[in-house]
Amino acid sequence: MTRLVVVGSINMDLVTVAQRFPAPGETLLGERFLSVHGGKGGNQAVAAARLGAEVHMVGAVGDDAFAQPLCDALAAEGVGLEHVARIENCSSGTASITVSSGENQIIVVPGANARLTPMHVANAQSLIACVDAVLVQMEIPLETVEATLRIAHRLHVPVILNPAPAQPLPEEWLRLARYITPNQHELATLLAADPSADFRSLMRRAPCPVVLTRGAEGAWFREEGEPQYQHGFKVEAVDSTGAGDTFNAALAVFLHEGLPLAVRRACAAAALSVTRLGARGGMPHPAEVDALLARHRD
Ligand code: RIB
Ligand code: NA
Repeated sequence: MTRLVVVGSINMDLVTVAQRFPAPGETLLGERFLSVHGGKGGNQAVAAARLGAEVHMVGAVGDDAFAQPLCDALAAEGVGLEHVARIENCSSGTASITVSSGENQIIVVPGANARLTPMHVANAQSLIACVDAVLVQMEIPLETVEATLRIAHRLHVPVILNPAPAQPLPEEWLRLARYITPNQHELATLLAADPSADFRSLMRRAPCPVVLTRGAEGAWFREEGEPQYQHGFKVEAVDSTGAGDTFNAALAVFLHEGLPLAVRRACAAAALSVTRLGARGGMPHPAEVDALLARHRD
């Protein structure tokens, strides 16, 4: 069984489904509202747990009405919460999400996620030392991302850095990651490159192996040499929120099968996640991934 630590954000997602996105200054009547559990960290933890991994989360919630339900939802999926801090006088992270025709717009207010410090990661060192990989994203303070990279590197535990939302990072940090998993826009931002640059040349320029996600088109990956392509899997898109998180989790869970197979499974898992509303709706169990792959033998 793969063992993972996820260092990252935990949010309550406030989701409105509408016919279209409102223009500035416009009021629209939406179709549906739901509050669901999200946050890139929490989502990656849940997706990995559903895929059969043993998962522990390093994160933070506030002391508001969202805190307990957020923790309960993670616990119900079997995610270990020993290193989830409760921050006093602080709101839990929230994401206000509008979904229209399978696409989304998101505003995240970090709340307690902004109070996850390098100390919280350091406190989880003995746990990190005995897992197969660490997953980390960028909805937490950058110094905490850096601490995660340094601590795991010192302990010889591979880190998958999902640079979302994107910001430029020092090259030296990127060298500490086993893989970075940006989309095209995030890769350009991360490397402080021209956003119109060809993504394949950016992949060659990155100081570490890259797995680049292309949404419905699939993914490109490169350890050394030329970037390789894995096609996406066609599904009926309902909500793409959390597809990237499902991709990252699957990559971590199946990495022991080698990168090409892990990327293939990650594309399939991400496609399945898009077929249901909510970041965690549609996150598959291994049998569903196998079934989708069995229908596409190419
Ligand atoms: O990656 C999807 C997640 O991003 C959502 O669950 C939302 O919380 C935002 O953090
Ligand atoms: Na979904």
